[in-house]
Amino acid sequence: MKTLRSAQRDRFRGQVALVVGGAQGIGKAIAARLAREGAQVVISDIDRPMMAHTARGLAQEGISIMTFACDVRSRRQVERMVASVIRRYRRIDVMVYVAGVAKGVPFVRTDEKHWDWTMDINLKGAFLVARAVVPCMIRRRRGKLVFMASTNSWDAEAGLAPYNASKAGVFLLAKTLARELGPFGINSNAIGPGLIRTRLTAPFIKDAKFMHKYKNLIPAGRLGEPEDIAGPAAFLASRDADYVNGVLLFVDGGQLA
Ligand SMILES: NC(=O)c1ccc[n+]([C@@H]2O[C@H](COP(=O)([O-])OP(=O)(O)OC[C@H]3O[C@@H](n4cnc5c(N)ncnc54)[C@H](O)[C@@H]3O)[C@@H](O)[C@H]2O)c1
Repeated sequence: MKTLRSAQRDRFRGQVALVVGGAQGIGKAIAARLAREGAQVVISDIDRPMMAHTARGLAQEGISIMTFACDVRSRRQVERMVASVIRRYRRIDVMVYVAGVAKGVPFVRTDEKHWDWTMDINLKGAFLVARAVVPCMIRRRRGKLVFMASTNSWDAEAGLAPYNASKAGVFLLAKTLARELGPFGINSNAIGPGLIRTRLTAPFIKDAKFMHKYKNLIPAGRLGEPEDIAGPAAFLASRDADYVNGVLLFVDGGQLA
C-alpha cells in the first residue's frame, strides 16, 4: 500500500461511499482506497464470503466497513440494499459501480443466455443501482457517480461481443447522467481500465498467446494491478473532480494511446 499524505487521508472524511461489486479485484482496491481516505464505505456484492474476507482485512487496519449482499440483477434486492444504506447513514455521497462479468466466446457461439447474463450484470445493474441512489443525491444537490467501463467501451475485442456492447452502454449511461444530473450538482463519469490482474482476467492472462500479443500493446510494458485503478477512481469521486463530468478516463498503461 502506498502511504497517503495527510490531506488525502481526510479527502472523504464525513462522506458515505457505496462500492457495488467491491468484494474483490478492482472494486476491493477502490473500497480500500476510499476507506483509507476517510470515507464510511459500504461494499455490496453477490459474493458473501469474499465480502466478509475483505471486511476482515480492512478491520485489521482499524477500518470498519459495512457489507451488504445483493445481486445487481434484482431490482428488489438493489432497492432494498440502497434503502438500507440511506436509512443507516442518511446519505450516499459516492456511488462506484464495479460489478461485472466477462466470458470470451466466439460470436457464432454466443447464445441469448450469455448475452442477457452479461448485459444484466454489467449494464442493467448499473442502471438499477443508479436509479435507486440518484434521488437521494438530487435531494442533497450533490453526489459523485463513477462507473466501471473498459477500454472495450471504445476498442472492440474479438470474442467479447456482449461484454463490449455492455461496456459501451455503461459509458453512454454515465454520459447521459452527466447531462441530466449535472444541474443538480451531481457528477457522473466512467473509468476505462486496460488489462488488470484480477479473477476476471485470470483465464485470459493464463493464455500465453494472448499475453504475448497484449503486452506489446501496452507502452507501460506491464499489466495493471487493481490499485492502479483505485487512485483515478478516488479522484473522480472527490471534490477535485467537481468540474469533470461525462468523461471516460482510460487507465490502461497507454494501451489506447
Ligand atoms: N480486470 C480487468 O482487466 C478489467 C478491465 C476493464 C474493465 N474491468 C471491469 O472492472 C470491473 C471489476 O472487474 P474485476 O476485474 O475486478 O473482476 P472481479 O471478478 O475480480 O470482480 C467483479 C465483482 O463483481 C461481483 N459481481 C459479479 N456478478 C454480480 C452480481 N450479479 N451482483 C453483484 N455483484 C456481482 C463479483 O462477485 C466480484 O466481486 C468489471 O465491471 C469489469 O468489467 C475490468
